[in-house]
Amino acid sequence: MSTFQAPKGTYDLIPPHSATYLAVREAIAAPLKNSGYGYIETPGFENVELFARGVGESTDIVTKEMYAFETKGGDRLALRPEGTASVLRAALEANLHKAGNLPVKLWYSGSYYRYERPQKGRYRHFSQVGAEAIGAEDPALDAELIILADQSYRALGLRDFRILLNSLGDKECRPVYRAALQDFLRGLDLDEDTRRRVDINPLRVLDDKREAVQKQLAGAPLLRDYLCEACKAYHEQVRELLTAAGVAFEDDEKLVRGLDYYTRTTFEFVHDGLGSQSAVGGGGRYDGLSEMIGGPALPSVGWALGVDRTVLALEAEGITLDIPAATAVYAVPLGEEARRVLFRAVTELRRAGVATDFAFGGKGLKNAMKSANRSGARLALVAGERDLAEGVVQLKDLTSGEQTAVALDAVVDEVRRALS
Ligand code: HAM
Repeated sequence: MSTFQAPKGTYDLIPPHSATYLAVREAIAAPLKNSGYGYIETPGFENVELFARGVGESTDIVTKEMYAFETKGGDRLALRPEGTASVLRAALEANLHKAGNLPVKLWYSGSYYRYERPQKGRYRHFSQVGAEAIGAEDPALDAELIILADQSYRALGLRDFRILLNSLGDKECRPVYRAALQDFLRGLDLDEDTRRRVDINPLRVLDDKREAVQKQLAGAPLLRDYLCEACKAYHEQVRELLTAAGVAFEDDEKLVRGLDYYTRTTFEFVHDGLGSQSAVGGGGRYDGLSEMIGGPALPSVGWALGVDRTVLALEAEGITLDIPAATAVYAVPLGEEARRVLFRAVTELRRAGVATDFAFGGKGLKNAMKSANRSGARLALVAGERDLAEGVVQLKDLTSGEQTAVALDAVVDEVRRALS
């Protein structure tokens, strides 16, 4: 071991386990690519003000969890704690919304950073795959995104997850609710921190996990009773579209998200095998975010699924993904001349699209065959001096142990035939 270790709250993705992460990312991305979402990549850091304004000055993410720093040049930046603000910033900057083709549908995959107290499922560096549909107010778009997330989880074989759905209202009805909730909360016996939260972000108080607080919340006004007609009708349509698609969900009036930009539809995917960090993904509509960061009105909706927690969910359900062995053919040279000849054959096979690896480092036959087996290859190509003198190499089936001599100039064809 070296003197260095991965920083607290982070971990490395190491083969063979890392293959599962890649497969999860691909499984989440596949339905998006299939539904008109284009790939976007933005920098790992942004102007800190983007998140302060976008995610919200009063959120834990901005006040406690952001990796913010000043560069040598005096710029105030932050490692991105989430993707939505960055993606919208990039879309506005590139004028994608002016191309006359709304909604702009984008998907992304990458690393995010939050200075949280680490525990299982909660890390300081984690991965998300996300999707944003920018510039359209249409319940079908909200439904589409939820359906696609559901589809990717089902494709992975996950079953023990639930979809929690809520509407947070809009700029008409939410302020009225907020005021009513504040009135109610100010009559409770709360500590100073929580009282301050009542002033700046009362909806978050509903999310307080402490029993002493939860007890007092019985009888709190419910947002459902304050939704305006437009929000109610919109939400009803989202619900109907999901039901028609056969996607089950649970109405959860208490669902508040940890980011301030949400309006109307909000949802979370929770997995029942994960303990306290049960949210595997979440998202919703953010009709006001564009204006909050200086853009035009662009009602939008999106989600992000956590790759780390999705992998934990697979483990919780005992699902092993069917990941094909990376290597199909493993070449084992015996001697210097064989090394040159087989290395050339390996290059040819790779150029022909056959996944091939080579016994590097002058290993003996026994060790090299061990490596061949470990690689998961179905075939080994073995050659020694005598084979070369005859212009052949030995093609060995690693499952049956059967071995046949094939002409050197027919290796690619013979390997293809054996693999088919
Ligand atoms: P979020 O709910 O903050 O939403 O994060 C989405 C998912 O990222 C979570 O459900 C969780 O799986 C994963 N995640 C978050 N924090 C951590 C952590 N510390 N360790 C491991 N996994 C974590 C957003 O980020 C929004 N940008 C989603 C969105 C997109 N809303 C609209 N568009």
